[in-house]
Amino acid sequence: MTLLQNLESRLACALETALGEATPPNITAAADLRFGDYQSNSAMVLAKRKKTNPRALAQQIIDAIDLGEIATADIAGPGFINFRILPEAYAAHAVSLLKDERLGVPEPGKGKRVVVDFSAPNVAKPMHVGHIRSTIIGDSLCRIARFLGFEVIADNHIGDWGTQFGMILHGWKTLLVHDALEKDPIAELVRVYRQVNASTKDDPAILETCKAELVKLQAGDPENLAIWQQCIDVSKAGLQKIYGRLDVKFDHWLGESFYNDMLPGLVDEFLEKGLARESNGAVCIFSGNSKEQEQDPFKVHKEDGWTDNPAIIRKADGGFLYATTDLATIEYRIDEWNADQIWYIVGVPQQLHFRQLFDAAQRWGKTGDFRHIAFGSILGEDRKLMKTRSGDNVGLTDVLEEAIERAAAAIAEKNPELKGEEAKEISEIVGIGAVKFAELSQNRLTDYVFAWDRMLALNGDTAPYLQYSNVRIRSIFRKLDGEFDSSAASIVLEKPEEIHLARLLARFGEVVPFVLEDHRPNLLANYLLELARAFHSYFEACPVLKSEEPLKSSRLALCELSSKVLEKGLGLLGIRCPERM
Ligand code: ARG
Repeated sequence: MTLLQNLESRLACALETALGEATPPNITAAADLRFGDYQSNSAMVLAKRKKTNPRALAQQIIDAIDLGEIATADIAGPGFINFRILPEAYAAHAVSLLKDERLGVPEPGKGKRVVVDFSAPNVAKPMHVGHIRSTIIGDSLCRIARFLGFEVIADNHIGDWGTQFGMILHGWKTLLVHDALEKDPIAELVRVYRQVNASTKDDPAILETCKAELVKLQAGDPENLAIWQQCIDVSKAGLQKIYGRLDVKFDHWLGESFYNDMLPGLVDEFLEKGLARESNGAVCIFSGNSKEQEQDPFKVHKEDGWTDNPAIIRKADGGFLYATTDLATIEYRIDEWNADQIWYIVGVPQQLHFRQLFDAAQRWGKTGDFRHIAFGSILGEDRKLMKTRSGDNVGLTDVLEEAIERAAAAIAEKNPELKGEEAKEISEIVGIGAVKFAELSQNRLTDYVFAWDRMLALNGDTAPYLQYSNVRIRSIFRKLDGEFDSSAASIVLEKPEEIHLARLLARFGEVVPFVLEDHRPNLLANYLLELARAFHSYFEACPVLKSEEPLKSSRLALCELSSKVLEKGLGLLGIRCPERM
């Protein structure tokens, strides 16, 4: 049980005594430690409802509450109740955390199944730094959800059936360089695609050929299907390499093409059930007219008032669209996988698509907790969308390579003794960790500036700073002669710095579940930075190896716990910790 849960249950009992009825308690971590560790506004909220004096009610609650040995309480301002956790309680809590492999994190997700839809690049188009956001955020949310007890299905819904295949097929037949395909398949497919795309602009006949190739593919032409399959295979292999380096794993790769066969029946069903109707030859979903127009994704406001904003699910030429596939995907995930929740980690520009999708799915009877977990753009240091000099999107592989190179240079300078394989391995851990943390420490909705020096700085708000903090802790244990058994240590907290460190260590179990309230890994990232800073202050104020027993063991135990929480926390962000760096 976390300290917060402990206080909550004590407050719930007190509220029941004071008010004569069961009332859910309201407690949060205090924003300002001068007022205590936790704060409740329950007295104010309830006094308003009961039309009594909030301070008097707060006093009644304090009189009724049994805080045991864990905290003291007092009233502040208009009726806040402030709780101050006693150092002995923090010490006892730290001792229990050392014996708990979950480090105090509860499992609120038990019994719930969630599909996480992330990364999902498009085949034969390069995976650019924009995809990095989906991949890194999605992977971290999967790790966190799993740790919180959810049953997670990570699904890579790749775009493997787009209109781009008309051009790729034509290019494959006329322009493909087989050696190049073998060397770097994704790059060769992209080159072919770009070249055809450019030539269609000058020559409309080529565009027609591409369209014909696409129609043949869709009709099941064996030659085109075989080429298509090869494109998918080589692209997947290329993607796997990148995911391998990033340590990102999927349970499924059910791309768009997986749903092809289901689309005609789906559109018929929508027509039969009156969920869609024909409009100018196309089949469209219109408003269900059960929402305020402002909330209705199938309405849009134009100069002359509110008008329909339908979603097309079958074009007049019979073709299906992104929305059709996504409806089939929801059906599959709900009916076949029994998902309770689906999280889509996709950029802000697709907001309308998902609002329409969720609305239509609910009307269709596919119920679940669907979330579009959106994110903003990545900007270059000039604050414009990140591009290479030639104007292309920057490739993800290039970004990772450069991060690792820069990390290697920094490590060689800091610790020249590290050599060979070990140095290489550490550079990889530090470089990739830096890129991931730069992403995850941002509020996902803001556009963020990709700045190399800032993300690799050893003394900034970075992964290398956290990894280095952990390396320092590990080095304390290396200096020890003999093993240290933290499970036998008792903890005494004397100085304010050690109390503060213990306070933050106790918060880990509260912060991790909080991340999922609004799917914000940055809350965990920022917590880890705060923890590392608290550790450094502690380490400066409280000698560890030079102090006498039993203080020495107590302080070593706090070091051990700090290291465990840092490693676990970084692990939940998908970031590894080197032993040395
Ligand atoms: N392939 C799409 C893109 O790159 C993202 C797919 C997201 N998932 C989904 N179920 N729509 O824009």
